[in-house]
Amino acid sequence: MTQENSLRILAAPVDHNDHDNKAVQTMSVFKSHIAAMSAYSPPLEGRDPEQHLLLDFNERTLPVSPQVRQALLDYLNNDRLQMYPNYGELTERIADYNGISSNQVMITNGSDQGIDLIIRASCREGDEAIIPGPSFAMYYQCAKVENLKIAEPQYTREEEFPAQAVLDAITPATRLIVIANPNNPSGTAVSRETIIEIAKTAPEAAILVDECYFEYTQSTVSDLVNDYPNLLVTRTFSKTWGLPSIRLGYVISSPDNINALLNVRGPYDVNQFAVVAATAALAHPEYTEDYVREVMTVSKPLFEAFLVNKQIDFWPSAANYLWTFPDDPDAINRHLQANNILVRPKADQQGRLGLRITLGNKAQTERLIQVLDEVIPTP
Ligand SMILES: Cc1ncc(COP(=O)(O)O)c(C=O)c1O
Repeated sequence: MTQENSLRILAAPVDHNDHDNKAVQTMSVFKSHIAAMSAYSPPLEGRDPEQHLLLDFNERTLPVSPQVRQALLDYLNNDRLQMYPNYGELTERIADYNGISSNQVMITNGSDQGIDLIIRASCREGDEAIIPGPSFAMYYQCAKVENLKIAEPQYTREEEFPAQAVLDAITPATRLIVIANPNNPSGTAVSRETIIEIAKTAPEAAILVDECYFEYTQSTVSDLVNDYPNLLVTRTFSKTWGLPSIRLGYVISSPDNINALLNVRGPYDVNQFAVVAATAALAHPEYTEDYVREVMTVSKPLFEAFLVNKQIDFWPSAANYLWTFPDDPDAINRHLQANNILVRPKADQQGRLGLRITLGNKAQTERLIQVLDEVIPTP
């Protein structure tokens, strides 16, 4: 056989577009359950802050402070890009901000990485995970990568967080319970007592409390991490701090847990832009505090009053977004898009389509209300 022929024969069965092709599947170097998964791909295309009012990702709708921008420019101008990241005192600053000690904190590449590391470090293939739903896609994604058996008790309008169903789902094989506080998309808050009860009932499971929206709620269990060694809290600079692009989150847990997680995180997983930006942001918390105050005490009550007036159903929310259920969500979404306002369609557990709407400042909320008013009749 010539070399050319042998190459052709070897190449023949490999058709990368044919997922039913047995030859391709048996040749995959990856675990079969990973090959069978689909990627988490949020609808990012076409989002443009110059053109759109972005109310679709629960982001801060205003730019970051001049101090953060200046710190990043200074960093660039100081010719430091060729150096590996140096985290300096960032962990201490985050600990100070939270009133805890620095050995209870680990910085991560967004809270997504914190979620991933906690699940990877605590669960083995086939372990059971309880992830109440509907909720944030990354929990399911990371649990599926580890090939966990996922129980998904459902949030409801009546009960909100399905506390009893979560407690009932706990078995000796449960290694992970996710509590999004507040939940995305519903905005549902979970009480401290409920979190403690779950942590006590499943002492061998990692209790991942996602406090991504902490600054809006001011509700935390970070003070309990030394009392409950299975408690792990994730946080982020992506939302209220307005820095999703630089990817910085952190985990709060007992010093032993933090040491174990540091064995898994890479030494440079957090980049230096994140360190520079977050350090500058933490030096001026008033930008975050003022924004949070306006969203929660002005914009949110304004929008809730509008929804009540229009008799539009929505879930009670502890965060900066509301999951709303107008009569014709598709038509309303089209009208919003035509007016350059982006929101996120999200179906509930019965398949009823709702619109999750992030709230911005007062002027942005008034614009949102004005555009919605054009398309939603007053009853
Ligand atoms: C509940 C929840 N957790 C975590 C995240 C991800 O945050 P990060 O940007 O820090 O990875 C989001 C983002 O939408 C979220 O809604």
